Formats: sequence, structure tokens, C-alpha cells
Amino acid sequence: MQSGRKFPYGKLIFFVTGNIHKFNEARRILAEHGVSVAMLKVKTVEIQDNEIENIAKMSALNAVREVNLPLIVEDAGLFIEALNGFPGPFSSYVYRTIGLSGILKLLDGVENRRAQFKSAVVFCDPSGELRCFVGISNGRIAEKPRGTSGFGFDPIFEPEEQPAKTFGEMSIEEKNLFSHRARALKKFAEWYRNFLGA
Ligand code: IMP
Repeated sequence: MQSGRKFPYGKLIFFVTGNIHKFNEARRILAEHGVSVAMLKVKTVEIQDNEIENIAKMSALNAVREVNLPLIVEDAGLFIEALNGFPGPFSSYVYRTIGLSGILKLLDGVENRRAQFKSAVVFCDPSGELRCFVGISNGRIAEKPRGTSGFGFDPIFEPEEQPAKTFGEMSIEEKNLFSHRARALKKFAEWYRNFLGA
């Protein structure tokens, strides 16, 4: 393992998030790839943008300025085909306002229920290195919520690889087999190990 001034934290990365569900998903998937992660709560200003990649990049740059540590930030969104990609980058606001029932109402009687979760994981460190890793999970919106695991839109999203279940009916381990976040984090971990020369 590399050490010294450039890599004082070894294969430890700080995940800037206030969402314990995201952190628990990340902890498991990163551990599988030999990377340790610590949760770091930093107040960052989340910009409004049509691209979740840009939102995550700005948050990561702001966070590094605050804490001077190698870190990752993640931004995610649910893109529903019949709604032209809504709520997309506004997923958090839409979840807090109209919630699952509001989304289901918008899709009432709509046959095309195809949807996509997208995750952008951005790595940034004090040297100015900035990398973005994207993960996607394709699936469909269920007719009604099922399951109590996870968070956000999990109870209404059925991934195409396991359409009999929503993410809300899965353990973290199972969700990580199909999730947008796990896919983006896996790409990050593979790159990070290489970056550290591990
Ligand atoms: P954030 O801005 O990355 O926190 O995510 C925006 C919103 O998308 C969250 O508030 C959740 O409602 C939703 N979301 C993001 N990722 C997931 C997920 O893995 N499962 C369910 N909902 C998610």
C-alpha cells in the first residue's frame, strides 16, 4: 500500500453524505473492492442543474475546499420515460413534495412504466484531481409501493434484472447487485485502487 504525503489515508475514502442508507450501500460495495469508507457530513450548497454529474462535481469541489480530504460525493435521480425524464435531477425535491403517491398518480393509466435510476459518483482530492463515475439501473415503476427496505423511491422501482421485486423488497446486498449506485461505486473503486497504485 502506498503511504506518505500523497496518500496519507491509504485505501480510505471519505463519503460526503447525510444519507445513512447511501452510506451503508457504499460501505458494502466498496469493501468488496478493498476500499474503506468513512461517512462525512459537510454542509455543501447543492446547485440546480439538468445534469446530476454537474451537481455532484460542484458539491465535491465545495466539500474539498471545506475539509481538505480525498472524498466522494454522489448525486442520483430517477428518470421516468413517460414523463420525459422527470423527476431526474429534481428527484429529491419531488420525493419530499409529492412523494411516491404523487409519482404513481402521474403514471395512473400510463402503460409505459419504463424508468432509470442514474448515479454520479464524483471523486475529488486536495490536489485538484476530479473524476466522475456514472452507474445506471434500468427498470420499471410498480403499480403500487412494495417493501420497506431502503429509502426514497425504492418501494416503487423494479430493476429489470429482478422484476418480481422492488428495491424496497431487497436487502442491501441484493440491491447492490442491480443498483445504479453500486455500479458507479464499483467503477470508482476499480479506478481508485489503480490511482493509489494498490
Ligand atoms: P440525491 O439528491 O442524490 O440525494 O437523490 C435524489 C433523490 O432521488 C433522493 O431523495 C431519493 O428520493 C431518490 N433516490 C436516489 N437514489 C435512490 C435509490 O437508490 N433508491 C431510491 N431513491 C433514490
